[in-house]
Amino acid sequence: MSNNYSKHTLLKSPTLFSNAEQASLYTAKQIAELILEKQKQGLPAVLGLATGNTPKKVYKELIRLHQYEGLSFHNVVSFNLDEYYPIGSENDQSYTYFMNQNLFSYIDIQPKNIHVPHTDSSPDQITQYCLDYESKIAGFGGIDLQLLGIGRNGHIGFNEPGSSFDSTTRLVNLDSITREDAITDFGTLNKVPHQAISIGIHTIIQAKKILLLALGERKSEIINEAINGEISIQVPASILQTMPQVEYVLDNEAARLI
Ligand code: F6R
Repeated sequence: MSNNYSKHTLLKSPTLFSNAEQASLYTAKQIAELILEKQKQGLPAVLGLATGNTPKKVYKELIRLHQYEGLSFHNVVSFNLDEYYPIGSENDQSYTYFMNQNLFSYIDIQPKNIHVPHTDSSPDQITQYCLDYESKIAGFGGIDLQLLGIGRNGHIGFNEPGSSFDSTTRLVNLDSITREDAITDFGTLNKVPHQAISIGIHTIIQAKKILLLALGERKSEIINEAINGEISIQVPASILQTMPQVEYVLDNEAARLI
């Protein structure tokens, strides 16, 4: 589906690295610089964070910067993109668990500043819960830096193909490709939840800076479509072409087709 969004005329070229390690170090450096800049200004650094394989090395580097180079996260406020629904936060496939294991347990972020959507609300409470999540983001003045991965179907967060570019935080149905890709984590398809809470595309594109990180050959086709293809709700990440605050950070394998 085409629409009235036009490509940003000053679209920057993707930032390319020879391997995933270098791309991840660069991404971590961007995040660390923002945190330090905000510290100098006496302000919170509001980070939008992703889960999945893509950001793992970024988080590893942030932990290293904390442990060996004195980077403090005391001014960081974090909002995660999404969480499966339903899933208990103690479940080791939950994104709360993922974030604790891959980042939060190793840094000095204040627990009260961590926000990961919790999906223990009953179905009748979800709408209000999602509105509250949006209000909390707005209450901190919006997201300063949003870290994104990309799904093989072009999703950002769990905004699956067909998601409106105006969408905000809500309960979503997971696409079959997303559920298949989650089998490696859950073991079998029937264990993969059918739904999730995800912040919306509108929520994401309000961020002041967006780093879309894509690593590896298996992302090459969708990255090419997202960057060079038509802007369409069938490829949710394609909307980012219109956004001047977006930087695509790619390793050579992900960039192979662009
Ligand atoms: C994760 C998220 C997803 C992932 C995407 C890529 O919080 O919102 O959009 O970023 O599915 O996943 P990986 O990095 O595992 O390939």
